[in-house]
Amino acid sequence: MLQRRKKDQSYSSSSSSSDISMPPFLPIRTTSEPSFKSFILILSILLNLYLLFLTWAPSYAPLTSSTLITTVSPTTRRHLLFSVASSSLSWPRRLPYLRLWYSPNSTRALAFLDKPPPLPLNSSSSSSSPPVVISADTSAFPYTFRGGLRSAIRVARAVKEAVDRNETDVRWFVFGDDDTVFFVDNVVRALARYDHRRWFYVGSNSESYDQNVDHSFEMAFGGGGFAISCSLAEVLARVLDSCLRRYANLYGSDSRIYSCVAELGVGLTHEPGFHQVL
Ligand SMILES: *[C@@H]1O[C@H](CO)[C@@H](O)[C@H](O)[C@H]1NC(C)=O
Ligand SMILES: *[C@@H]1O[C@H](CO)[C@@H](O)[C@H](O)[C@H]1NC(C)=O
Ligand SMILES: *[C@@H]1O[C@H](CO)[C@@H](O)[C@H](O)[C@H]1NC(C)=O
Repeated sequence: MLQRRKKDQSYSSSSSSSDISMPPFLPIRTTSEPSFKSFILILSILLNLYLLFLTWAPSYAPLTSSTLITTVSPTTRRHLLFSVASSSLSWPRRLPYLRLWYSPNSTRALAFLDKPPPLPLNSSSSSSSPPVVISADTSAFPYTFRGGLRSAIRVARAVKEAVDRNETDVRWFVFGDDDTVFFVDNVVRALARYDHRRWFYVGSNSESYDQNVDHSFEMAFGGGGFAISCSLAEVLARVLDSCLRRYANLYGSDSRIYSCVAELGVGLTHEPGFHQVL
């Protein structure tokens, strides 16, 4: 109703202004006034259109991104690369946990160890466990958290080492501890809802209030596992070493990753399916 009335008014005012401005014998002063009015009118219409475009623009952005995601094939198991942080010491005890969710035929996973596992477990005869990768030496990195464990650097660096392998067709890098039990199909379903070509850091905070206060409510805790989209992971891998040197004061690996992701301007996308039990 309001819009129609406004339109009618504007139509009538424009026709009247043209009537007045048309006769050439009218004094200049009177003709300049309506033309100034119509100038203001056109200016305000242009301004309105500009403001309308501005307010519409943000609603267009997610539309295009969601239409884009339908053009790529759905995310499946083979698009996920799991990286598990372990050690030669804990490896024999944690293998049963890994076998709960890992399947060599359908799950892509790597286990990052500090050194080769004990003899009977070193061969690939244990094909029901993920391939073992020996982490690179991190003794040159500073670690200043009193009473903490230096292995936090090695574990955080698995993010870079997993990316640098150039594994094909990885959309999501998923990280967890050697006692993290993944329900792979659930992880796939959760991550398939996000566009891996955009920067995503997906996980959940701790179920312990104190842990969240000590670290952050916006940090993904490693015990529950977390995921990084391939586009973010590639950028993160490039800056990780310099970033790890700057956060020598932190305790764990997950707070290191959190800090480095935060430096890239990315916040946590909360997926409560990733959770750790204390
Ligand atoms: C995995 O694939 C191999 C070869 O195709 C097959 O022999 C084996 O039974 C499969 N294992 C499982 C758990 O499906
Ligand atoms: C496992 O250990 C045996 C004995 O030391 C060695 O011959 C073999 O090459 C090792 N396998 C792997 C995969 O490292
Ligand atoms: C991965 O790709 C980069 C750049 O193409 C290359 O420098 C690097 O050596 C590759 N790494 C592996 C393990 O193939």
